[in-house]
Amino acid sequence: MAEVTVQAPAKINLHLGVGPVRADGFHPLATAYQALSLYSRVTATDADTWSLTCSGRDGVDVSGVPLDESNLALRAARLLAGEEPRGVALHLDKGIPVAGGLAGGSADAAATLVACNELWGLGHDRATLARFAAELGSDVPFALYGGSATGHGRGEIVEPLADAGHYEWVVLTFDFGVSTPAAYAEFDLLHAGAEVPDPVIPAELLKALAEGSTSGLAAAVGNDLQPATLRLRPDLAEPLAAGIAASALAALVSGSGPTCLFLAEDASHADRVAAALGRFGRARRAHGPVPGAVIC
Ligand code: C5P
Repeated sequence: MAEVTVQAPAKINLHLGVGPVRADGFHPLATAYQALSLYSRVTATDADTWSLTCSGRDGVDVSGVPLDESNLALRAARLLAGEEPRGVALHLDKGIPVAGGLAGGSADAAATLVACNELWGLGHDRATLARFAAELGSDVPFALYGGSATGHGRGEIVEPLADAGHYEWVVLTFDFGVSTPAAYAEFDLLHAGAEVPDPVIPAELLKALAEGSTSGLAAAVGNDLQPATLRLRPDLAEPLAAGIAASALAALVSGSGPTCLFLAEDASHADRVAAALGRFGRARRAHGPVPGAVIC
């Protein structure tokens, strides 16, 4: 096969529980992930050398994406190749806003693993690809699985979660980013000298998903990183409040931010909430859960 295209979804954390910083600098997490219908598409083409190009669609600005060896997709391909003398031409077509707390780079990496596995005929199963994914970043394994799932460890230990629901979200992105390490460092500052309890996923959240209850989900969402992100970007308080004022069922920062998420009743309600948020940034509609990385 000369060319394979794979799409992988954005992730949100329905609840992000963060524990005390570990000796390796990472934080133990207890999180519930959901995959949303914003996608990165990666095309892997047979080549003798390594190359990477990138485009954005649906208004995604890719000017900040590194195209050198530090790019997570290229690292994913090289990791999968191991010692073999391979090459590949990768093209990333990004529909997930960059540096937003939606794990767009992780989606690129997961899609690349699936695409190169197919292109090179390696025959690795999902569990094996997930081990490669965990080496690349905390959020990469989830992008392989998609759906709704729990995440433990530093986020890389993923277990599928029963979810009977279909949820409509408004995803508000900005023309600035928040660095994930900076948000975690701010979390440490905020909790300096205090006992940080081990993180847990609220039982009400798991119940709401199992029942497919949108109102139950709205009552149970949460993000332990949000106070830290709001310290770095106090201006996010206003759009969060405006979403609730515009009747969103819940409003929260996505992961380390700055993207803000608003839960809606249904698609037309999401349109109304999105219309009220356009003055703060770019408001997109998305639904979840959706599947993880799949060959197109
Ligand atoms: O794993 P990933 O490369 O996505 O993590 C980026 C950074 O986010 C880490 O270097 C670390 O500073 C922070 N992080 C953390 N605890 C986690 C996940 C990420 O402190 N569970």
